[in-house]
Amino acid sequence: MSRVYRPTDYVVEKSRLSSMEKYKEMHKKSVEDPEGFWTEIANEFHWQTPFQSGNFLSYNFDISKGDIFVKWMEGAVTNVCFNLLDRNVRNGHGDKIAYYWEGNHPDDYSRVTYKKLMDLVCQFANALRENGVRKGDRVSIYMPMILETVVCMLACARIGAIHSVVFAGFSPDSLAERMSDCKAKVLVTSDGAWRGEKLLVLKKTCDEALQKAKAKYNHTVKMCIVVSHLNRVTSCGKLADPKSLYEWHDDVDVWWHDIVEGQSTICPPEWMDAEDPLFMLYTSGSTGKPKGVLHTTAGYMLYATATFRYVFDYSEKDIYWCTADVGWITGHTYVVYAPLANAATSVMFEGTPFYPDNDRYWSLVEKYKVTQFYTAPTAIRSLMKFGNEIVTKHNLKTLRILGSVGEPINPEAWLWYYNIVGGGRCSIVDTFWQTETGGHVLTSLPGATPMKPGAAGFPFFGVKPSLIDENGKEIEGVGEGYLVFSKPWPGIMRTLFGDHGRYEKVYFSKFNGYYCTGDGARRDEDGFLWVTGRIDDMLNVSGHLMSTAEVEGVLTEEPRVSEAAVVSKPHPVKGESLYCFVILNDGAKFDADLIDSLKKRVRNRIGAFAAPDTIQYAPGLPKTRSGKIMRRILRKIALGDRDVGDTSTLADPSVVEELFNNRPV
Ligand code: WTA
Repeated sequence: MSRVYRPTDYVVEKSRLSSMEKYKEMHKKSVEDPEGFWTEIANEFHWQTPFQSGNFLSYNFDISKGDIFVKWMEGAVTNVCFNLLDRNVRNGHGDKIAYYWEGNHPDDYSRVTYKKLMDLVCQFANALRENGVRKGDRVSIYMPMILETVVCMLACARIGAIHSVVFAGFSPDSLAERMSDCKAKVLVTSDGAWRGEKLLVLKKTCDEALQKAKAKYNHTVKMCIVVSHLNRVTSCGKLADPKSLYEWHDDVDVWWHDIVEGQSTICPPEWMDAEDPLFMLYTSGSTGKPKGVLHTTAGYMLYATATFRYVFDYSEKDIYWCTADVGWITGHTYVVYAPLANAATSVMFEGTPFYPDNDRYWSLVEKYKVTQFYTAPTAIRSLMKFGNEIVTKHNLKTLRILGSVGEPINPEAWLWYYNIVGGGRCSIVDTFWQTETGGHVLTSLPGATPMKPGAAGFPFFGVKPSLIDENGKEIEGVGEGYLVFSKPWPGIMRTLFGDHGRYEKVYFSKFNGYYCTGDGARRDEDGFLWVTGRIDDMLNVSGHLMSTAEVEGVLTEEPRVSEAAVVSKPHPVKGESLYCFVILNDGAKFDADLIDSLKKRVRNRIGAFAAPDTIQYAPGLPKTRSGKIMRRILRKIALGDRDVGDTSTLADPSVVEELFNNRPV
């Protein structure tokens, strides 16, 4: 039995939702009367053509009854960028700070108001239009955490182009694959960026990716727009001539500042249907090829707005900070769209928690008087190890809400976050969600719901979770099963870009009538939901989701390797790490050179965040007679745990002992 933490008076006093009863009442309304519930929020926004009653929601979640689809407010017409900027400026927030931007180097910072942000977005939107970008075109974005990234995303939204942000830690191969899959017309990047003392030459990665897109996928990106960023004080004093780091190709490359110069700050928005695409974002798929998750206009906007308001209990004078990179969904929804939709003031941070010192996060909370702080368990664990003093020497009294996202948070990290960072005053919101869900779907709510360390808590408004057993039967009350949802909420993805069949297969074919998350969950005696982790072949390393198949594919590209199997091994900071078994081709030697080459391959093909921790020599793999690898056994071997259970279904049980004997010391 884990201890229950109730919201403190400090949180409840200021909270917009201050009791469990009120939460239950609102939740009931949200699932029984979606139109009534969401109309209240929709009414805050500008609609060029208002939505028609009766046409508020239509959907099919049951593949046996026909194609899967979800439509919210089809026929209503609006523009997300207009609502985030023009509407807020008209409502008197023009001079309000939208972002305090903090660069990698502590001497490099700036701020931007809503009015200024609107001007910058309009100018860049005009530049995109002038260069032939139109409604429905795809724009790939490979950028660091700088204001131009936000400007670029919103400029796309303004003209109806679909942005596809690729995390700037991905390799040229990964970027090439993603740009080619969505047939991007334009790529936007920066010359480079510093992360701590490490220099990333993004333009060089882009050059390689553009070439690979052409050679491997026969896709040509028409234009590469480059932000000049390396000339700032961020450069740690080490960089004489940024231009010497990459090539410049006059036929595709243009400087951001050149195409923006002289552009008008007036840019009429493209009016979009509620169900027109807003953006796409690739996420790993269990078969290897990334999936282009597509979000649409109105539903995403409403859902982002509501989750931000209730989960972070945001009020007008608060200063909110989400540390996520814009390259992931958390950065999309909770660095860009949701805070701006609420006219919030956010901190946007380019650097790392460890530079110039390990207290950078806490010094920024103090500097900007942050009230809501949202980060990942892996970051919390990596900061815990520096002790409490580097936290408590800072004045963190402004904090009220602490958020966690990306993976289950272990109770030890939860308690440290709660007691040391939050001083025992703050509420922790453990937000479970996915690229596919658009916004939080399970979470605690600050003033309303109790908390248990490690439990995600309760469904957000509009969300109806169920736990299902292997036979598709719903588990009532206490129990554990597949986490699924039986109804759409406004922010759920609508399709996978260019592959609706895969969308139906991956998410809706396992259990008729349900969206399947791919995660397992447990409901306890108090009704709390605990997410137990992925139950498909996916791994979550430092909150980055990847598939075992994707990594296995890269390992077997090495000529010396004939077969590979990858499993997850628990890691004290990263949550999970990659443990790889490799079978070699005849005559190949398992040595330091091979290990090194395999690790490099994964870094180069996928990205540094995917680098395996362990590569083990495997004389064979534990397979069933039908040839299926029993990963359960491999996970035990990775752990060195000899309690492997039943091995009688294996074609050759002796392989298990051999694998134990070959564990690296
Ligand atoms: C995991 C990130 C437990 C889960 C927003 C999910 C979590 C995957 C939590 C989605 C949480 C995310 N507790 N697990 N609070 N948040 N996950 O698409 O396995 O990058 O399916 O979206 O992360 O990762 P994605």
